[in-house]
Amino acid sequence: MTRRKDQMRLGAFFHPTGHHVAAWLDQGSQIDAGTNFGHYVQLAQTAEKAKFDLIFLADAIATRDGNLKALRRWPQYMAYFDPVTLLAGLAAVTRNIGLVSTATTSFNEPYHVARKFATLDHISGGRSGWNVVTSSNASEAFNFGRDAHYGHSERYERATEFVKVVKGLWDSWDDDAFVRDRASSMYFDPEKLHYLNHKDKHFSVRGPLNVARPPQGYPVIFQASASDTGKELAAQIAEVIFTPLHELEQAQRFYRELKDHAAQYGRSDDDIVIMPGLNVVIAASEADADEKIRYLQSLIHPDVGKELLSTALGGLDISACDIEQPLPDHIISQEERKNNSRVAYLFKGKPTLRQMYENFGVGRGQRTLKGTPSSIVDQMEKWFVSRGVDGYLIQPPILPAGLDEFVEKIIPELQNRGLFRTEYTGRTLRENLGLRRPASMYASSGDTAPAALPVRSDVDLIAVREAARTAAADAGFSLVNQTKLVTAVSELARNAVVHGGGGEVHINSVQQGSLRGVRLVVTDQGPGIEDIAQALTDGHTTGRGLGLGLGGAKRLVNNDFTIESAPGQGTTVTIAMWATPGLTPIQARLPVRS
Ligand SMILES: Cc1cc2nc3c(=O)[nH]c(=O)nc-3n(C[C@H](O)[C@H](O)[C@H](O)COP(=O)(O)O)c2cc1C
Repeated sequence: MTRRKDQMRLGAFFHPTGHHVAAWLDQGSQIDAGTNFGHYVQLAQTAEKAKFDLIFLADAIATRDGNLKALRRWPQYMAYFDPVTLLAGLAAVTRNIGLVSTATTSFNEPYHVARKFATLDHISGGRSGWNVVTSSNASEAFNFGRDAHYGHSERYERATEFVKVVKGLWDSWDDDAFVRDRASSMYFDPEKLHYLNHKDKHFSVRGPLNVARPPQGYPVIFQASASDTGKELAAQIAEVIFTPLHELEQAQRFYRELKDHAAQYGRSDDDIVIMPGLNVVIAASEADADEKIRYLQSLIHPDVGKELLSTALGGLDISACDIEQPLPDHIISQEERKNNSRVAYLFKGKPTLRQMYENFGVGRGQRTLKGTPSSIVDQMEKWFVSRGVDGYLIQPPILPAGLDEFVEKIIPELQNRGLFRTEYTGRTLRENLGLRRPASMYASSGDTAPAALPVRSDVDLIAVREAARTAAADAGFSLVNQTKLVTAVSELARNAVVHGGGGEVHINSVQQGSLRGVRLVVTDQGPGIEDIAQALTDGHTTGRGLGLGLGGAKRLVNNDFTIESAPGQGTTVTIAMWATPGLTPIQARLPVRS
């Protein structure tokens, strides 16, 4: 195994009063945390001083349903801020720390999510991250016009399409689309604007997004699935993974398998950061740590313990079970215990029901490390150097007290061992995590076209654009119309030479009676003209350059290609194309305001 040159990444997960299920009963917690903005400001600033990479806020868009006798003793998600709004507030009182929250793909629309996280990325100067979930709280369905949650595979199918759309929307504008040039009276360059025109099973989204491309390109994408379907999605899209891991061997296997699987999608090891949750109980000695755990466990009311366990086991009815006995086989079979990787660890050693919920309740199902600062750091280091993890999502049992303690006792020990930074080196969350900034999907060809369509090297599209601009200026078009026409011309020329067999493009301004216009001649020597027609009438006309108020280009006409307009009076531009004699012509009429 090669020695690691990088440092640990650390996130701070802020469950309002703390991750312990009964945290609010402890004096060290902020009792009204869920709706106390000052509480979050204090937490975020503490985490930033300690140089954490990020803070994370989970989310559910429903209260929890269940046994109210138990729920009344358990505040989590009952009074809870919208996390993206909260993070926008925290962006204003922090400078470096990453701001990450959940948004579900089951009960949102991609446009909303793309817009919110793009906005947060701008507000924070490139510090936002989106945790993609499919909703673990089935009650969310009741708030969004449904009687039940989507089935598991449908959730992930929807999530996969959702993420694709969100990324597409983030690419609506090239990074340099907003030129804001007063001298030429041009605010943005239409050539750098892209219509997504997505239409598939779950979503129909035209775009573009009304927010400029985020500073990070895409906000960082997080994921925390445990199922095989969820891991498949993670391999495709997740850049940071929070999935719980309890044993080193299991972690090493997960780490290797996920990164290897991601390689099938053209992703490298460095494109993915694995940082599972870690609940840390710190004390001056091992005996004190045990005592602390016992105290924390004693806070859990049996009604809450049973409710918690019932939810973790997928809604099993365990209300009639004796808490001092192990769960009987007729409630959950030996087979099911082993197969559910998320809870299998709870059944180790034939525990009683009380022991099970105590074990689960202290760290909300995440790995717990208890001990002195140096023994805790030993463990954290061991998993890191042996590539079980790239870092941790710290889940203090009590907030704010548990975070203060971690920052005071664990961070300096990590820094002394060179395992964690002493200063931020990056400006954005991506840079701090060591993740690449993704290029726009339209960027690699050097012009506004998607990378999927190669540009033929024998046609100089920059020259085509220049010629089109000169011709449009000669024809007396307004600056805005010049730009629109240049976009249309370069797009069509490009399609012509990509799809057709020809290679020559001529552009000039023309005069027909009182009409002045621009003529583009594409010499097409191959059978490609029908493909050009296809390209014009399908995605490309409404999809990209031509969608800029020039949408509506329709049919094949001639073998040559002319754009004509009547500045001052006309409202249409006609595009005609002449290609190889004998082929069906294209005619396209494009509305243009002069
Ligand atoms: C650290 C962490 C944070 C999570 N945050 C949320 C959340 O905010 N909202 C949510 O619905 N599920 C959340 N989950 C649940 C997972 O995203 C996922 O839905 C769950 O593990 C079930 O995944 P599976 O269906 O792939 O097994 C979180 C899980 C972990 C480990």
